[in-house]
Amino acid sequence: MKILGIETSCDETAAAVVEDGHRLLSNAVLSSMDLHAAYGGVVPEIAARSHIEAITPVVSEALHTAGCAWDDIDGIAVTYGAGLGGSLLIGVLTARTLAIVKDKPLYAINHVEGHVYANFLTESRAESPELRAYSLPARQPEFPMLALIVSGGHSQLALFRDHSDYTLLGQTRDDAIGEAFDKVAKVLGLPYPGGPSVGKKALEGNPRAFSLPKAKMPGKYDFSFSGLKTAVLRLAQAQVGKDYAFPSSGLAALLSEPQKADIAASFQRVAVETVVDKTMMAYEEFQPQSVVIAGGVAASPELRRQLSERLPCPISYTDPRLCTDNGAMIATLGCFKMLHGQPTANPYSLDIAPNLSM
Ligand code: KG4
Ligand code: ZN
Repeated sequence: MKILGIETSCDETAAAVVEDGHRLLSNAVLSSMDLHAAYGGVVPEIAARSHIEAITPVVSEALHTAGCAWDDIDGIAVTYGAGLGGSLLIGVLTARTLAIVKDKPLYAINHVEGHVYANFLTESRAESPELRAYSLPARQPEFPMLALIVSGGHSQLALFRDHSDYTLLGQTRDDAIGEAFDKVAKVLGLPYPGGPSVGKKALEGNPRAFSLPKAKMPGKYDFSFSGLKTAVLRLAQAQVGKDYAFPSSGLAALLSEPQKADIAASFQRVAVETVVDKTMMAYEEFQPQSVVIAGGVAASPELRRQLSERLPCPISYTDPRLCTDNGAMIATLGCFKMLHGQPTANPYSLDIAPNLSM
């Protein structure tokens, strides 16, 4: 069974083909990230226009790399939420059109659930040297499975008893952890996206140079990152001796490189510790068979290091290219939906759901 997955919820136009829910046959991603870099974050209008230009070549590339003709494709899976409305529309309308014209079943995928399914890919197409280079876990995670989902738009802990059977244990009450990385990068004058650039700068700094607050939440497994984000801004302001009203965009020029590195390292340690602490608590309470991490921030070497160090069970990580937005995770979840005979979406009426939750 081969499923074509299409993902356009944010600034990546992505399509991929996955076989039987575990074999990666292609993973085409075209990002408009460079166009947003000058603004320090995604500009929805630019993202949507970029998807229009990119979607046809990206879908063609996904089929070509997979060595598939349309006859080989058994179904189409598409992200219908959560995400930016204008961006989601392009992917959903493309998938709807293809499902009608090529006469394929259509599966509507929740983006956040999709992220988790990147962890089910264990093999890649042998004919493709590029795909062979992906580092994938040796086997699929077992249920019950604890999933930490950390991205630019989401920070969630969920317990999966089985496919499509999960409980949301907690989530962020304000900013997502990736958003905090992106804002801290802005304060420190580091490039967008902030996760990789803050992570890189942090390598030169002392993670214990500054103590920053960890939010105490009423919900046991809930997160909050807005206080930490503000604390970093105040720390940077205190370091350069300007008051809080000073525009944050001018701060970076006044910070020395060692100051930036120490702030980046201290922030990263606390942000990552916050999600690892709750993952540990959930692990102890629910004793899952497996733990997975998903979403863009799951690419963070510091998150992987802290989790591996603290978890008493072995944990596998997927390739960082499958942590950030991609079509393969959407196709993989589509495979499981088809395998389990789950309802298909109506290609004549599937709507987007920008605020879809888990
Ligand atoms: O999953 P994703 O591509 O998009 C959303 O669904 O939001 O996640 C993007 C987020 C950004 O905030 C980015 O800064 C963060 O993931 N990110 C990282 C890394 N790569 C991307 N954070 C930490 N370390 C990384 N290597
Ligand atoms: Zn995402």
